[in-house]
Parts: sequence; structure tokens; C-alpha cells
Amino acid sequence: MGRVFIAGSINMDVVATADRHPKVGETVAGRQVLYFPGGKGANQAVAASRLGVKTTLIGRLGKDSFGAELRAFLGAQGIDLGSVRDADTHSGTAIITVAESDNTIVVIPGSNALVSADDVADAPLAKGDVAVSQFEIPLPTIAAFFQRARSAGATTLLNPAPAQTMSAELLALVDILVLNETELGFLAGVELSDGDEAATIIDVARQLQAREDQIICVTLGKRGVLALAGRKEFAVSGRAVKAVDTTGAGDCFVGALAAQLAEGVSLRTALAFANAAASISVQRMGAGPSMPTAAEVAAVL
Ligand code: RIB
Ligand code: NA
Repeated sequence: MGRVFIAGSINMDVVATADRHPKVGETVAGRQVLYFPGGKGANQAVAASRLGVKTTLIGRLGKDSFGAELRAFLGAQGIDLGSVRDADTHSGTAIITVAESDNTIVVIPGSNALVSADDVADAPLAKGDVAVSQFEIPLPTIAAFFQRARSAGATTLLNPAPAQTMSAELLALVDILVLNETELGFLAGVELSDGDEAATIIDVARQLQAREDQIICVTLGKRGVLALAGRKEFAVSGRAVKAVDTTGAGDCFVGALAAQLAEGVSLRTALAFANAAASISVQRMGAGPSMPTAAEVAAVL
């Protein structure tokens, strides 16, 4: 069985809940302020580790109280934190508003901006492992990590979120790209809108595909997932659940997918599993703490 290595961000999520989002320039009264461990890299690591797969996180924390809390939480999830080093700045922080089960997020990278190619240089990757990253750490670090992973025979999985322009060189290092419709539209330079037909989305994914054997998975929230695997394409249907907080749902999907692939499960089965895992996470508040266990996912499959 392979392991999951994640080079990525770790944030404290400072969450305000309110009945509705304020408009620009407006003030609304909130209900609660909550502090949840978050950050895309950390969330994905929590998801993979809670599913029972050996998971290593590579990242940076500030030497502040958020850093200490985040390290304690992540350690308690069984994640290997030997490669989470300190940084001489504040810990990554996300300011989040949750209203009507939707969120807005402002991320201040802090220590995440200092995750370097040096930090990933010693990762003991091997064949069968899955190397995962997202766009909340510097892109040259991701490229170095993926180069190392590929030369070790590991599979690379990129979640290009939040979307930003990436080089063709980096895209070519990706074995599995997992992204939502907005990110797909942005990277392909095509206007995509919520509700586009599967055929349209798959066409755009095909335009973006950098290698013939590259897998592209497009997450569509409650509409499920579309996947392009080489020339083959297939769909996983969505699951009807009542969402309370969708923060980290995409991360749950990515972490669960990585865990399943490390366990050697087929792509189609892994996608259905990850989709079910994400549907559980949206029914709970918070990002990191909302990730399900393998038993919880098995119970809804
Ligand atoms: O994907 C959700 C995450 O994005 C949050 O936990 C927040 O920290 C931001 O990084
Ligand atoms: Na959640």
C-alpha cells in the first residue's frame, strides 16, 4: 500500500457565521466567531489520514499561538509532521464568512509563502505513493516536489486552487488534475458557467489536457464529478445532502481521492468514494474537523 505526501498550506480559519453575506461597504451582524484548522494542504492531509492511509505533510507554520494549535490538531490526526518546519512570520490565516451555507474567503499566506524547494527535497517518495499539492504555496516548490515524485515513480496529483496562471512545464508534471468548473475555465481560458453540459466541460478539459495519459477530474459540487482519463470519460453522480458549510469540501475530495489511489483502488471507485466523503464534510462546520473516517464513508456508500 502506498502513502500520501502533501506539500501544501496550513491555515487557521477564522470563521464568522451570519444570516447573509454583507454587500461591499455594508456591515451585517454575525452570529458566531469560530476557529477551525484549515488550509488546503492541511485539510487534504486530514482527509487522507482519517481514512487510514499513512500521510506526510510538508509545510510551514509561524511561531505563534495559531501555529502551536495547528500543529497539535494535525498531530492528533496521525499525520506525520516531521517536515512541517517553523517560519519567521505569522501562520497562514484565512478570514472566512459562512452564510446560507456558502462562503467567502480571504487567505493571508504568512508562513505558507515560505515553503521552499528545499523543504520538499528530502521527501522519501517511492513507487505507489501519491504526491499532492495545491496553489497556496509557491509554484516553483510544487514543480520541484512533482519532479522528485515522478523520478521516484510516485503519482502526482494537483489541485490548482485557488486558480492562478501556471506554466505548461508544471502542468506537464501532473498525472491527475482535480479542479472545479471555475478553475477549469480559468486555466483553459474559456468562459464556463454553472450548469454547463457535461459534453462542454469535457471538451474544455480535453483542450487543457497536457499529456495523452493525463487524468482530469472536474468536481461539480452537488452535480457530482466528470473525469477524463486519457481518451476515456465518465461521470460520478452527485449526492443530495443538506450542506451547512462547504468550506474544505474540495479538499476532502482531493485527500480522499489520494488516499484511495495510494491504496490501489481503481479511479472510478476512488472517485465515487471521494465524492461520498465530500458529501459528508459539507454537513459539518469547519474545514479540517469536518473530514470523515473510512467507516463513515462506507456507511453512506
Ligand atoms: O479549501 C478551503 C480552505 O481554503 C480553507 O480551509 C482556507 O484555509 C483556505 O485555504
Ligand atoms: Na465542512
